[in-house]
Amino acid sequence: MKKVLVLHGPNLNLLGTREPEIYGRTTLADINQRLAERAQKAGIAIDFLQSNHEGVLVDAIQQAAGNGCNFIILNAAAFTHYSIAIRDAIAAVTVPVIEVHLSNIYQREEFRHHSVISPVVQGQICGFGMDSYMAALGIVIRRFEEAAK
Ligand code: DQA
Repeated sequence: MKKVLVLHGPNLNLLGTREPEIYGRTTLADINQRLAERAQKAGIAIDFLQSNHEGVLVDAIQQAAGNGCNFIILNAAAFTHYSIAIRDAIAAVTVPVIEVHLSNIYQREEFRHHSVISPVVQGQICGFGMDSYMAALGIVIRRFEEAAK
């Protein structure tokens, strides 16, 4: 069975109460539940991990293939903008990664306009709240379907 890993970076555990004018009232549990429902309908397995710690995310990326994951959906949160360790981990593995953000990082402070991980991911989806994740999962499901043909 195909499997996708959804990785959430720092402070995303606070979704729902964290700066709701930017991130809305949706909680991380809501996002994971919607993703899990969609994955179940598509007949694929899905794993979730949220961490506030860079090394934990690096470990998860390194171990994804060994854990049977065929795709990663990653919201690296603030690490997006400066974590060379996460960028290098993505570059080091063969599992493809889709970068997602709830907010449109290009409409926000200038320090958020640059993603150090974008050059090593398949593509980036940002600005659609929870639907950024749903769109990424839709793409993953299509890729799995294409691979099964
Ligand atoms: C974020 C955008 C980042 O700039 C920020 O540091 C986050 C969340 C988003 O999903 O919009 O923590 O990745």
